[in-house]
This record gives sequence, C-alpha cells and structure tokens, in this order.
Amino acid sequence: MQFSTKTLPQADFDSVKQVKPAVASLVALATDCLILGYSKADLNKKTLGSLMLELDAALGGSVARAKLAGDLSGKEASQCLLRAEANWSKAGVKAKRVLLVGLGDPSPKEGLSLQSYAKLAKATLKTLSGGAIESAAWFVPSFGANADAVVKQVRLTAQLAGEQTYRFGVRQPAMKFKAVEHVDPFQELLFVTCKDTAKAVQLAVQQGEALVEGMNLAKDLGNLPPNVCTPTYLAKTAQGLMKKTKLKVELLTKKQMEALGMGSFLSVAQGSETPPQFIIMRHNGGKASEAPTVLVGKGITFDTGGISLKPGEAMDEMKYDMCGAASVVGTMLSAALLGLKQNVIGVIPTCENMPSGKATRPGDIVKSMSGQTIEILNTDAEGRLILCDALTYVERFKPKAVIDIATLTGACVIALGAVHSGMFSDDSHLLADLTQAGHDSLDTVWRMPLDAAYQEQLKSNFADMANIGGRPAGSVTAACFLKRFTEKYPWAHLDIAGTAWKGGAAKGSTGRPVPLLVNYLLAQS
Ligand code: BES
Ligand code: MN
Ligand code: ZN
Repeated sequence: MQFSTKTLPQADFDSVKQVKPAVASLVALATDCLILGYSKADLNKKTLGSLMLELDAALGGSVARAKLAGDLSGKEASQCLLRAEANWSKAGVKAKRVLLVGLGDPSPKEGLSLQSYAKLAKATLKTLSGGAIESAAWFVPSFGANADAVVKQVRLTAQLAGEQTYRFGVRQPAMKFKAVEHVDPFQELLFVTCKDTAKAVQLAVQQGEALVEGMNLAKDLGNLPPNVCTPTYLAKTAQGLMKKTKLKVELLTKKQMEALGMGSFLSVAQGSETPPQFIIMRHNGGKASEAPTVLVGKGITFDTGGISLKPGEAMDEMKYDMCGAASVVGTMLSAALLGLKQNVIGVIPTCENMPSGKATRPGDIVKSMSGQTIEILNTDAEGRLILCDALTYVERFKPKAVIDIATLTGACVIALGAVHSGMFSDDSHLLADLTQAGHDSLDTVWRMPLDAAYQEQLKSNFADMANIGGRPAGSVTAACFLKRFTEKYPWAHLDIAGTAWKGGAAKGSTGRPVPLLVNYLLAQS
C-alpha cells in the first residue's frame, strides 16, 4: 500500500466555521474513487448540506438522485457509491467514482469517537478492496475543535489500509505461491486536506506508514514457516535492518550467553539442533544519558513442548510462538522509520523448543542468570524460561520501563480470547499508558492480576521456584514467575497468546501488538 497526501485550495468557511475545500478541486482529482463523509445533519435540511449541495451541482445531480432513491441514509458506516456518468466529465470531474460514507450523528463538539470512526473506515476500505479500484482519495475535513482526534483517525486509517492489503509471500520471492497473484488491486491511498490541516495530516500519514512497515514485517516473520524462520533467520533479519535504517544490532555468541550464566535460556535451547540467538537492537534517538525503554520479545521459533510434548492438533500454529519477538523487530523498525527522539532497545532471546536426547527433562533444575534456581516441572512452560534471563540481562540498561511481549500461555487465550492482550503490571503509569495506546490503535489490552498470593503456586521443594503453577490462573502464575526477575525497574508483561495470530480458515499473523507498542512510544515522545 502506498500512501501520499495532497493539499487542496480552500474555498471559504462552512456553517460550523470549518475550512471548506473548493469542490471543483475535489472532484478534479484523478482518482478511481473519491471518498467523502457526510452526517445525517447534511441530509436533514430540506436541501442537501452545503458541501453536498455543491457536490451535487458538480456531479450533475447524482447526489440528489441517490438521495431520492434512498441510498443516502447517513447511517454510520453506510456506503453509497456513485459511478461516473456522462455529464460528469463535462463539468471537469476526473474522479471515476465518488464514495459517500455515512458518519451517523456525530456530536458537533466532540466529533466521532475513534471506535465509530474505525467502524466506518473498515467498511470503506472493504468497499475499496478486491475490485477494480486501484487508487482512492480520502478527504480529511478541517479539524475544527478536534485536531487530536482527527490525527488519530488518519493514523488509524493508514494502519487499517495496510492491514487490509497485507498478503503473505509478496515480500519473500522464495515464498511465492499461486494465491500471491491475487494481490489486492487497491494499492494507492491519497489523503486530501486543506492547508490548515495539511501538516498534521502529513505527519499522521507518515506515522501510519511507519507503523504499517513494522506490522508487515512482524506479520511476515510470524507467518514464515518454522524451517525458514529460525533463530538465525530472526537474527539475520534484525541485522538486515541496519542497512535500511540507523538501528544498531548486536548478537551474543553462545559462549557469551554461557559466561553470563543464562542457564535457564540455554536449557530450552539445548534440545534443538538449531543454535539459539540473543539479539539486541538499539534505536538511539535520545541523548546518550537518557534511560531507554526496553522491549523484550519471546522468540520460540517452534514450540513442540519439548519432552512434555504437545498434542498434535494444530501444532503447526506453534510456529507463531515467536510473535513476541516479531513484534519487537517490527516495532524497532517503526521506531527507526519514525525517527523517534528517544532511546529504545529491543531484546530477543530466541531458540526452538524440541524434544531430543539432549533436551531438558521434567524434574531438571537449572540456574538462571539472576542466580535463582528453577525446577522445570513441564518443559512446555519454556517461554518464561527464556524470558527470565533476558529480563535479568536488561538490568544493565537501567531502563525507564521494560515491556515484555510473549505468546506465553494457553490460559490467556481461555481468559481473554482474541480481543484483548493480557496486561500484567504493578506500575500505574505503564498500565495507564498502555491502556490508552491500545484504545488509540484498536490493539487493546486488559489488566490481569499479579498479586503476591498467586506466587504460592510456584513453590518447589527442590529449587527457588517451579516453572509451572498448575492449571488455575495459568496466565497469572506465568506472569508471577517473570515478576521475580523484574524487581529492578518498572515493568509490564503482555501475554499475546490469543491476539498475535488467527487460526482456522483465516490463519495468519495479526501483527499485534505492533500498533499498541508504536502508539505507546509515540505518546512517550
Ligand atoms: N507457547 C505456549 C502458549 C500457547 C499455547 C500460546 C497455545 C498460544 C496457544 C507456551 O509455551 C505453553 O506451552 N504454555 C503452557 C504452559 C503450561 C505448561 C503451564 C500452556 O499454556 O499450556
Ligand atoms: Mn510451550
Ligand atoms: Zn511457547
């Protein structure tokens, strides 16, 4: 998807004192589809609302005819597609279609809520997709009192357009398959504004574009098969970003991991023929003295469960067990493209969880980098075992906040389904900021508990802790396990087991929570 912006000459002000574009310049846009919103109020007047009336004149009565036919209801997210008629070209109309999108009854003061806007944006993008339309021009009305809201809307539109047109295999020639030929013809989205709003819209579009780049990368990494997307592939992909951006990427050798005492992480890796990787990505956008935000992503490139082998059904989906890592790589790419003026560090422990003669047994005790010992009662609870060492490792950055992202527990899928990611934290700022970023990006989180009472379930008779806490509150005890390694900095844990990918017929990575994380970082600067 390609995004661009264009500033139109403005005519004057409309009745609510908003800048109005010259309708002639709107319809003269050479586009497959011009998109305009209209509210019920624009119809309720005996005549059409002022912009609609001018539009009707420019389109030789097409709008009035649509109204007469009952096609213009103004209902929120309703779509009325006008196609070029013979008399359009005489009037200098170059748009091949005009799509009138119902805005419902937005309050004049507050405008549309982001939720309502998302609904109509999704419906509109659906109309544009999969047919003959290749390009569209999306008119962004004057902000009025709602500059902040409109900026969020534009950013979200770009995000949704990117989401809708994503196809796996387009960016990896080696992965090309027949369906890839059916790419969406809709590939160009132009945002048109008046001068007063042009700068803000340009910025929002750039932000959306950077977000989509990061999301696409996260989706590709998630969707790639586990024989391609190995720990080494993840490391090479991260390193490859150094050519495109100013990101700095560093890998730890296995010797270094051993010397650091990452016994927990290495115990998961030891069952696999594929070597583990520990990836450190830096975006140095702030002063060297500024404390960084650190993102830690679970990178199990395939989770068989190890000796505590998983059942066979849908086991292929365990290729998605590196979606935390993918979201970190994607967010780091977005951060670099955005040129965020802050320091962000992405840290990824990555390996496979395989059964073999060298694999960890249930009952084994390992020593983590923190010095705490862990009795591994179930080798399928491996995510926490690789994350705990990474969480100790990042202490050295003296972070202002650490967020880990992991497809950690099936229990989180049972608790929250595919709607919200689970959010665990004791830090009121992190909780509030992540919640807000989730709302702004439609990539929402739901707060889960983390109280000390749950720690009881991790007791071991033979080590400092067990790696499982039984079936009750499984996602909470997993978070409680991680908490024991994060006492030195403000920390939040996101369990994305239910949100990172879709199963069934629509199987595929969602790119979540890249939108959440990018919006979080944007709000921090
Ligand atoms: N990667 C899985 C979690 C998972 C399972 C995510 C299904 C999405 C769908 C994780 O490594 C795991 O296996 N967790 C176990 C923990 C249990 C053994 C305490 C689980 O959730 O069953
Ligand atoms: Mn597992
Ligand atoms: Zn796992």
